Amino acid sequence: MCGICGYTGSRQAADILIDGLKKLEYRGYDSAGIAISHGTSVAIRKNCGRVSVLKSICRESPVEGACGIGHTRWATHGEASTLNSHPHTNLSGTIAVVHNGIIENHTELRSFLCDKGYRFVSQTDTEVIPHLIDYYYRESFDYLGAVRCAVSDLKGSFAIAVLCSDYPGKIMAVSYHSPLVVGIGESENYLSSDINALSGKTDKMYILDDGEIAAVTAEGVSVYDKNGNAVDKEIHQTDLQTENADSGAYGHYMLKEIYQQPHVLRQMISTHIFADKPTLFGELEYGDIKDTERIFIIGCGTAYHAACVGKYIIEKYAKLAVEADVSSEFRYRNPLIDDKTLVIAITQSGETADTLAAMKLAKEKGAKIIAVTNTPRSSAVRIADFTFLTSAGAEISVASTKAYTAQLASLYIFAVFLAEHIQKEELTLLKNALLRLPKDITATLSLEEKIKDAAKSLVNCEHLYYIGRGADSVTADEGALKMKEITYIHAESYPAGELKHGPIALIDEKSLVVAVSTDKKLHGKTVSNISEVIARGAKVLCISPFDTPDAFCTIKIPQTHGAVSPFTAVAALQLLAYHTALLRGCDVDKPRNLAKSVTVE
Ligand code: AGP
Repeated sequence: MCGICGYTGSRQAADILIDGLKKLEYRGYDSAGIAISHGTSVAIRKNCGRVSVLKSICRESPVEGACGIGHTRWATHGEASTLNSHPHTNLSGTIAVVHNGIIENHTELRSFLCDKGYRFVSQTDTEVIPHLIDYYYRESFDYLGAVRCAVSDLKGSFAIAVLCSDYPGKIMAVSYHSPLVVGIGESENYLSSDINALSGKTDKMYILDDGEIAAVTAEGVSVYDKNGNAVDKEIHQTDLQTENADSGAYGHYMLKEIYQQPHVLRQMISTHIFADKPTLFGELEYGDIKDTERIFIIGCGTAYHAACVGKYIIEKYAKLAVEADVSSEFRYRNPLIDDKTLVIAITQSGETADTLAAMKLAKEKGAKIIAVTNTPRSSAVRIADFTFLTSAGAEISVASTKAYTAQLASLYIFAVFLAEHIQKEELTLLKNALLRLPKDITATLSLEEKIKDAAKSLVNCEHLYYIGRGADSVTADEGALKMKEITYIHAESYPAGELKHGPIALIDEKSLVVAVSTDKKLHGKTVSNISEVIARGAKVLCISPFDTPDAFCTIKIPQTHGAVSPFTAVAALQLLAYHTALLRGCDVDKPRNLAKSVTVE
């Protein structure tokens, strides 16, 4: 969370930084700010709110200078306010710092610095950093040494960029469990917390490893390890992913991305299952994992939901036991891992802090790691033994849609990859269903008008309950997550059979229940649960290929091979959340309190 950028060269830094921050805004959008080396001082412009507001502020009150750092914030310590926004400075305003991550020992450092006479103006953990650098700088007047000493006092995860008025063209940058890259230009250099945000600027870069400090000037970049020894860094040259130009006629990225799903899935399924020489699971060969005794699939949020569907599919077709786990739980629960364990980490961004930590833990314990990610060159790719790229294309909307169905497709492809070694018949049916899938999703999306109409019944609800059985219960989880994420309506989901073990106590005539029922064998059971909530006054909206007479509305999605219905049912739920959010006047693509990439735990 939080985006960092930097520039040093001969052009005006402010415009370049604001452009960089726009590309990083998906990482957090509570507030934004820049610091520019301006003669022998450091000038700051910052504000609560979006980068567009910062841009207007810089237009009204321009700041000249060819070296600067920028930040877009997702608040962790201290409310979203101008005071808490970055850059933060020392008392004399000669040292400015932007930071991504969390300083876990900030309370101790604060009291140490207060004892030394330092005063704090913000509630952030970050503010200790410029004061600490100031403290060490006063002892030695050694810029690199002061940054190095300050950083060695910090506990937690951080990427930081520093400006010091005594060194007008030089940025110091440090990465520790939080990504930061230095983009190498012609007589100018850049910093960015996301490689892809350098697109259009340079395709050459240094990727900082944990604990490394880069001293960046227009003329060159020197990188040091935590002891201050120079490090010979490899230059990475790479094609960068350009973001989707705009949301076009759709008006919102989320809607555009929902409609891109048939195309994304067609590409993935044809390349990995139906090509003349299918590549199946990327670079992975069966021999690499044939001794696997236990599989964990891990992820956070929507990626965790993909993991849960993956469990159903892999167990059903490959007959291997799979556990799905939330990364933040997995990393702290001492899971049973050895060298016969395979961990599949699902992460769209490839930068989710909890997932990366869980991957590192599993690797240390001897497991093989596969990253399923949408982001080449991400930290997840660097940690994993094998990578499967979901090729969903850039997903801009914070609410994940096409990245989710691409994650599902990856796990189905993995199930086919494993199952080819043990069975044929059932698998042929699954493959044919996958081949038809893009058409089935297109048919689901053609129900948009009906779904839009159904959304009118949800718009004033305070509480929504989602239910389903089997894999539908996971789709219900994902539908409820999408709904709460972008509409701020309280939406909870339960396996339908669990209702009468507690949650049904919440049901009354104000309740609206969204029931997902795509499995013919289980439909009768779900219908009974629907009757039970209707008997207690609830209204039921059903997502199903089957008739559900008691529901006030049934969105009749196409009947598919049962195993692939998580794709079609979720597409309907994505549209339902989208239209409810629109009716409630919510900022669909940038919902409150969220960020696209969650780089703190
Ligand atoms: C999805 O709509 C969410 N924004 C969120 O749950 C997301 O899936 C989660 O934070 C994991 O992100 P990742 O895939 O980048 O690891």
